[in-house]
Amino acid sequence: NHVRSKFPEGFLWGGATAANQVEGGFYEGNKGMNIADVLPGGKERLKILLSPGFDFKIDKEKYSYPNHEAIDFYHRYQEDIALFAEMGFKVYRMSIAWTRIFPNGNELEPNEDGLAFYDRVFDELHKHGIEPVVTISHYEMPVNLVTEYGGWRSREVVTFFERYVKAIFSRYQGKVKYWMTFNEINSGLHFPIMGLGFAIQKEEDKYQPTFQAYHHQFVASSTAVKLCREMMPDAQIGCMILYAPVYAYDCNPENVMYALREQQLFNYFCADVQVRGEYPAFIKRYFKEHNIKLAIQEGDLELIKENTVDYIGFSYYMSRTEKKVKSAEEAAQGNILSGVRNPFLKASDWGWEIDPTGLRISLNELYDRYRIPLFVVENGLGAIDTVEEDGTINDAYRIDYLRDHIKAMREAIEDGVELMGYTSWGCIDLVSMSTGEFSKRYGLIYVDKHDDGSGTLERKKKKSFFWYKNVIATNGEEL
Ligand code: BG6
Repeated sequence: NHVRSKFPEGFLWGGATAANQVEGGFYEGNKGMNIADVLPGGKERLKILLSPGFDFKIDKEKYSYPNHEAIDFYHRYQEDIALFAEMGFKVYRMSIAWTRIFPNGNELEPNEDGLAFYDRVFDELHKHGIEPVVTISHYEMPVNLVTEYGGWRSREVVTFFERYVKAIFSRYQGKVKYWMTFNEINSGLHFPIMGLGFAIQKEEDKYQPTFQAYHHQFVASSTAVKLCREMMPDAQIGCMILYAPVYAYDCNPENVMYALREQQLFNYFCADVQVRGEYPAFIKRYFKEHNIKLAIQEGDLELIKENTVDYIGFSYYMSRTEKKVKSAEEAAQGNILSGVRNPFLKASDWGWEIDPTGLRISLNELYDRYRIPLFVVENGLGAIDTVEEDGTINDAYRIDYLRDHIKAMREAIEDGVELMGYTSWGCIDLVSMSTGEFSKRYGLIYVDKHDDGSGTLERKKKKSFFWYKNVIATNGEEL
């Protein structure tokens, strides 16, 4: 007699990308250089970025830079948006490249060419009835702020960010209803360079600068929320976290406690500040144990308390299994996270463990804790696709992955979770964040572009394109 639950009316189906992974147009419109622009192609790119003495400059003799052309969304956005519309997207999650608006991050006036570009993109989306969901900062901090200010270590960056936010809010207030502040804000705990804008060479040196930088980001995020309420009372603004539920490897209480601590630190710390408006109790002990003393200015804590987010956007790719003492041989893989391998799960070609039930668990955990609407703003499968002789791309594995995760969301809705929408990651093939590869494809739309830089950039509909189109048309009834 079980009546299957339905996706609510108005559920926000769509797809997600980030400026630096699709746009290209590196030299155009007076854009400045951001972190992604100095990332070389290839699996070693994050290691290179983190190597001592890395100077954040471009060296074309030595490396290739896939983000410079990416998939050329900068020139092809009309064609791409038409394809999104054909799939029936209600929303398109994208980011604004900070360096198109403030090329060096610290100018006083915004760059008109950059502002005009996003006007064109938003207008095109609206022409097709698609609402943009905009991430204000997605791993693309201006390089100048990294090299001259030490990234988010510097309080001054809060002022620059506020200037950037004011510029985009006043320009796009009639055009964008859904905003998010920092992409995967918690990723900086494992990997500070992409989100926090600075590298750490030694483990013991990481604590103080990391959490000071976080404090600055929280102030910046609350400032954005405040401005959003003042300037766009009808808009909604969320945080964005990387969520991977942490499972204890076994029922040894030591491992359960370890997993719980990881869950608190990684999954909840940032969200607690951004959603509840307070530093949680567990982090105070952590600060003591690591001798972290935050410089907090007068008014900061009130600002954070009064300007909490409307919803939680999060990425979900995998769960994480943890035990207190682990060996290198047991390690699992991901781009930001690792734990130990879970014997019950299979992994993708890139070693990411596939766990749809983990998405249902995540939705329940997040909703139990915060009681505000959730939005799955990234989820997808990075895989090798083959174009058949007849031109088709039969990505049944991707359909299976997406279907299982959408089913898990449906279960969570039945569990009582308030879910606003779902945007599949890399709805069109793009440059992988962690490896710079084009061959790690997430798209429902194929782009003829390859790891060696070759390719016509032609777009092709994969089998999953047609499948997702029907999922949206039936509001998730037909999977
Ligand atoms: C998330 C990021 O961590 O994962 C995206 O927000 C990224 O920018 C996505 O592309 C998938 O990771 P990867 O490393 O396969 O591109």
